[in-house]
Amino acid sequence: MRSFYVTTPIYYVNDRPHIGHAYTTVAADLLARYHRVRGQPTRLLTGLDEHGQKIERRAAELGLPPKEFVDAMVPPFKEAWEQLRCEPDDFIRTTEPRHEEKVQALWRKLEAAGDIYLGEYEDWYCVGCESFKTEKDLEEGQICPMHGKPVEKLKERSYFFRLSAYGDKLLAYYEAHPEFVQPEGRFNEVKSFVRQGLRDLSISRTTMRWGVPVPGDEAHVMFVWLDALTNYISALGGPDEAPLFDQFWGPEATKVHLVGKDILRFHAIYWPAFLLSAGIELPTQIWAHGWLTVDGTKMSKGLGNFLPPGPLVDAFGADVLRYYLMREVGFGQDGDFSHTHLIERYNGELANGLGNLLNRMLASIVRRGLGGVVPVYRPDALEPIDRELIEVARRVGRECAEHLEAISPHRALESIWELVAAANRYVDQTEPWHLLKDPARRERLEQVAYQVLECLRWIGTLLWPFMPDRCDALRAQLGLGPLEPAVGEDLWPDAFGQLEGGLQTAPGAALFPRIDAKQEAEILARLERDRLERAPMPGPAAEAGEPQEAEAEPLEPIAPPIVFDDFAKVDLRVGKILAAEKLSKSKKLLRLQIDLGEAEPRVILAGIALSYPPEALIGRRVVVVANLPPRKMMGVQSQGMVLAASDAGGLGVLCVDRDVPPGTRVS
Ligand code: MSP
Repeated sequence: MRSFYVTTPIYYVNDRPHIGHAYTTVAADLLARYHRVRGQPTRLLTGLDEHGQKIERRAAELGLPPKEFVDAMVPPFKEAWEQLRCEPDDFIRTTEPRHEEKVQALWRKLEAAGDIYLGEYEDWYCVGCESFKTEKDLEEGQICPMHGKPVEKLKERSYFFRLSAYGDKLLAYYEAHPEFVQPEGRFNEVKSFVRQGLRDLSISRTTMRWGVPVPGDEAHVMFVWLDALTNYISALGGPDEAPLFDQFWGPEATKVHLVGKDILRFHAIYWPAFLLSAGIELPTQIWAHGWLTVDGTKMSKGLGNFLPPGPLVDAFGADVLRYYLMREVGFGQDGDFSHTHLIERYNGELANGLGNLLNRMLASIVRRGLGGVVPVYRPDALEPIDRELIEVARRVGRECAEHLEAISPHRALESIWELVAAANRYVDQTEPWHLLKDPARRERLEQVAYQVLECLRWIGTLLWPFMPDRCDALRAQLGLGPLEPAVGEDLWPDAFGQLEGGLQTAPGAALFPRIDAKQEAEILARLERDRLERAPMPGPAAEAGEPQEAEAEPLEPIAPPIVFDDFAKVDLRVGKILAAEKLSKSKKLLRLQIDLGEAEPRVILAGIALSYPPEALIGRRVVVVANLPPRKMMGVQSQGMVLAASDAGGLGVLCVDRDVPPGTRVS
């Protein structure tokens, strides 16, 4: 039986995980789950890319040693995958010794093959991409089109990999393996890039230290992509260590890299060339998916629409988010993440489609008419309409598997929903609520109920890779235990009629309770508040574009000392801003409503209107002087004071960087 190995890219740790990362990781997890259901030995790898200039600089900006910085970034990624119910078998970090050793071993193999030489390099470098750029890759003004930032000129002594020698070999390999890169259109781009001729690749740096040292020349550290790509085999112990490597990288294993379209070139050209040089087997397939925008705009921290998966999981649950991510966008195409589409799909496909099918059959028909017990299957008593439904189930089971084998998760879901729709139609047509009233038609009622329950069991398996928890909940309602894949046991449904008669069903809470208009508004408002909390606070300097350093003013001298008791008289509290609006008569004042944990929010005026648009403040936790006497300004009574620092660049409100409850004392 073929083993199945699927990998995600290893994510750079300079950012926290967002919905784009979640997209690949969920796709990889669902493929791994599918192959486990088929009984194949399966392995899912994800991890973090922790070296390189980008990380080194980010750590320096934060004033942290790089190792301390990267260590701190591990939990957010691990937590995100846990929250999303992604269960990797291994989580590799490129700073681990087990990885660094293997990267050095690979270097030595490339060297032994005569493919590494020392030379000098001068070209444009984009730190965002961690990659050199030729003039033709750049936009006017030497701007990297991916990152919208100017590239830098780099000149240094560097080791080179003889990539130019691999053009023909790669093209021959592509020719012999027409499915090596997917989708096809992207494969054509790769081929035409290689046909134009490949330049040798600079694979070491002397200008930064944060990387794997080059064996034998410690003045150099390795190019971060050579380091990073090796993770796919170093996590298996590398080619010199038998069992795991042989099982998941040997010729009998299917090895799939899922990557975003932006990093395809590294995976489809550099990585195979390194492997060819080292005499190591190539991956089976590299699948390049598209990019997600959020509500129609490119995700960016500057725009404040950088979407972490956590709040979405809190709002909808992991399974629903997994479903939506895989359903909304054709794998391989660009697409948009839209909160309102998510809710539409939830209500339409999950609540009305699948949830309703389960509910109407179990709660109304089986409980009322059959004492909650699964009837016995009677293949001899099938009517044409029953056969039709069975045919749909069989076809959907087959097609769904084909789509998942071909890594087309959205089509697999489309196909599963054909069965959901067919089963709902079958219930409408067979009208079991009439059969229920006629004791003479009991056998027919049993047959109809069985058909639908068995379809639900099928759906619970076909959909399990996407929504493991909801499918286990569905199975529990049918009286079945959770799906427990095991190597060697193919659980994919193929024969209709395997649901055992006599099982006691357990109708329970709705699988997908409908989200009504009021709940929708609440969820959207909560997500928007979360977003604003994460958004950078625009001040006058930021409005013009990139934030600028305000010019330093001479500092006020520190005031004479006071006794502690005097300080303790000032009652400082955390206040959560619930509402903010401009005061019509004033240019500077905003009228804020702030929750201080009291029965009613306080109205507080703050002179910050020139530094903050009101909507950027909602949801923020600020520091309030809570025991000042009320003061009337512009006809409005202000019940406290919000603390802020001011310099020539404007005002900066003091915020608490954790979700402490409103009213918490600040001391
Ligand atoms: N560290 C490299 C990968 C090395 S793999 C040997 C890297 N990291 S990354 O964190 O910048 O990006 C990781 C993946 O996230 C890429 O596949 C990229 O395409 C994907 N995405 C980042 N933003 C995305 C969207 N907005 N939408 C979909 N995927 C996106 O590149």
